[in-house]
Formats: sequence, C-alpha cells, structure tokens
Amino acid sequence: MEISTQPPRGTSDILPGQSDDWQRLESLAKTHLQRAGYKEIRTPTFEHTELFKRGVGETTDIVSKEMYTFSDKSDRSLTLRPEGTAGCVRAFLNAGLHRQSPPVKLWYQGPMYRYERPQTGRTRQFHQLGIEAFGSQGPLIDVEVIVVASDFLKALGIEDFEVQLNSLGDAACRPAYRELLREKLRARLDKLCADCRDRFERNPLRMLDCKVPTCQEQYKDIPSAIDHLCDDCKTHWLKLVELVQAQGIKPVINPRMVRGLDYYTRTAFEFVAKDSRLGTQSSIGGGGRYDKLVEMFGGPPTPAVGWAFGVDRLLMLLPDKSLSALPVFVVSSNPQAALATATELRRVGIQTELDFAGQGQAARNFSKQIQQANKLQASYVVILGEDELAKGEATIKDMKDGSQKVVSQSELASYLGKVILE
Ligand code: HAM
Repeated sequence: MEISTQPPRGTSDILPGQSDDWQRLESLAKTHLQRAGYKEIRTPTFEHTELFKRGVGETTDIVSKEMYTFSDKSDRSLTLRPEGTAGCVRAFLNAGLHRQSPPVKLWYQGPMYRYERPQTGRTRQFHQLGIEAFGSQGPLIDVEVIVVASDFLKALGIEDFEVQLNSLGDAACRPAYRELLREKLRARLDKLCADCRDRFERNPLRMLDCKVPTCQEQYKDIPSAIDHLCDDCKTHWLKLVELVQAQGIKPVINPRMVRGLDYYTRTAFEFVAKDSRLGTQSSIGGGGRYDKLVEMFGGPPTPAVGWAFGVDRLLMLLPDKSLSALPVFVVSSNPQAALATATELRRVGIQTELDFAGQGQAARNFSKQIQQANKLQASYVVILGEDELAKGEATIKDMKDGSQKVVSQSELASYLGKVILE
C-alpha cells in the first residue's frame, strides 16, 4: 500500500504560515496566566482509562462514545486524554500539591483527543489551553477564572463573545432536581430523540442542552436548576452573579447549559462566540466548579474551579491572520555583505531577512529585493548599495512613511536595536 500524505481523519498539520499565530497565542497565554499567578503543568497525553471513566463520568458522550482507548503491550488499558482536568487532578494529588497553601493555580495546554464526527471547528485531535484553581471555596475565585479568561480573549483581539452562566447545584440539591426532571418528562418520552430517552435514566440534566429543536420544544416549561438550589448553592450563585457583574462582565444566565462532563458542581460557564467561521461550534471555551473530584480521586476535600478553551477555535477568530510583520529586511548588491549584516542584527535580537533568490554570486536587482521585503511586510529595509558599502555606511528606510536615514555600519545594530527592541 502506498503511504498517504494525508494526516489521519480529524487531525491536521500546523504549517509554517500558521505556526506564527500559534506561537503568538501561546506566548500571550503564558504571560497572561502567569501574571494572574497560574503556573504551568504538563501531564501525559495518555492516562489509565479508569481516570477518565470515573473522572469525566461513564454517562458522558466523551466516555461512552469518544475515547481513544487502547491496550499497551502489557495489557494496560490506556486512553488518549480527551480533556485536561482529570489529569491535572491526578498530578495534583500524586505530587502532593494539596499540601501547599491554597489556592494552587495551574495552567496547561496541549493536544486532546475525542473520536467525534469532524466538521468545521471540531476535530479528533484538538488543542486546549486551560487553568485549574484548587483549594478555594468562595465565588470570588470563580469570578477570577472568568475574568482571566475574558481578559485573555480581549488581549487576543477577540471581543465578540458572550459569557453564559448557570448553577448545577450540588449533592444536597441536585438529586431532588433530577427527580423533578424525570417526573415532568416521563410522560413526554415518546416525543424525545433517542439520545434524550437514553439520558432520561442515566443523566437527565444532560437532556436540557440537547440540540434537537423538537426536544427543546418539550423542555420549554421545565423548571431550571437555579430555581431549585439548596440554600448554600443559592448563596454561592447569587454572590457569583453579583461579583461577575461588578467586574464589568454581563453574564447571560442560561439555565439550559449543563456542560458535557459529569464532575461539575454549582458554577458552570461557557464562552460563546456566534461567528460563521466556527460553523456550528459556537462554544470556544467552558468550565466550572468541581468540588468533589479531588475527593473522588482519593484526596482530601478540595474545592476547585477551572476552564479550558479550544485553541483551534480561538485561532479561527483571530482578527489579523496575516503573517506577523518582519522587523528588518537587508537589501544589497553584495549577497555576502547582506548575510553578514543580517547575522549581526540577529545577534542583537532583531529578526532579519535577506534575499536568497539571486543566481550564483549575483544579487537580484534592488526593486526585486524590495518587492520581497514588501511581501514579508518588513518594517525597515537596510540598504547596502555600492555607495554605502564603499563608505562603510547603511541606509535605513522606514517602510511605513518612506523616510530614510544613513548611519555608519558600525552603529547600525545599536541604532536599530534602540528603534525596534526598546
Ligand atoms: P469542554 O467544554 O469539553 O471542557 O472543552 C473545552 C473546549 O475545548 C470547548 O469549548 C471547545 O472550544 C474545545 N473542544 C472540545 N472538543 C473539541 C473538538 N472535538 N474539536 C475542537 N475543539 C474542541 C473541558 O474539556 C473541561 N476539562 C474544561 C474545564 C477545565 N472544566 C474545568 N476545568
């Protein structure tokens, strides 16, 4: 069989022209999250299958339909991580981070795997950027994680999004709400889709965010979880809404948003962007509180809250998808001199390019070289013509306003360093 150059279905290559945007997002994420006190954690891309089964929940689509599970040569059942939270909790406990003074704030990024039907904005290998904050119970930290996310989106230049908010209750109030749902919906089962009928027994809350319009029709008059919270959950919820608003965010309360993972307690939120570039995948990120997960993994009671964004989806929304501008392009009649100058500028930290399209020893004519500089969106062009080379000088052309300045070659690097790097 011939080797196919196509990547596996639902995956893609990140090509040179695209990796600039990835790097820009990654470096912005790093500064932004570290500024808010989050420290990076890197966990394995595969874990014991049990971790996700128990952590994410047997009844979720992720666990029941979408996991990449395999046995290794020692017959261990392993799964490519479908999300980052379960692995973070495992690592948090394994490294004894629960003994550090709270909150312990972590961030992560990397590929995740879900066997879903690929479409615009939905792939089988995708990338998440996430944060998890362990050890704080009050709504203030829920608000911090939401504000950090919202500010990060704005720093990326993504302004057009909605923060949807809901409360899913906890072990004290959710069972009664679940029963209430069953009670109300039992008589309507024959009008619901097969997935909803299945969820009725296993996880009735998930019925509420079904995308099938005829099902939504049946859920119109169904009471929301927010109206059936116990006193503690209600206090948390009311304070959360108040604090989020005080931070200048106008949340959209969405009682139908229940999230696709089982570990949530109380707060659940989703960042939604209605943008045609995302196809039907309008959720760019989501998260919430998961106060019982650490305990479920054998740790001490530890409240926690976090989110993850789909990096692939964020990149589809970046306003300026053009190549990042190049600071300097060197144009010269002498290719060796151009390379020597480019090297000198690179050594002081300035990204610099030169023309490589000349034949043999000869450089291309100046206008062709300038065309190349324009194509790369160079901010400055350094010109080393016969004249300049003879006098030991260089002409610097500012490509934005066309102004020119002549400096000695010995001062070129320090001059441009000041203009570009400071
Ligand atoms: P999630 O909502 O399953 O949450 O995924 C978070 C984000 O990952 C989604 O909003 C979406 O942007 C992206 N995403 C998910 N599946 C795909 C896919 N097949 N293709 C492209 N992008 C996708 C979680 O994973 C939770 N662990 C978030 C969290 C962290 N909750 C608390 N802490």
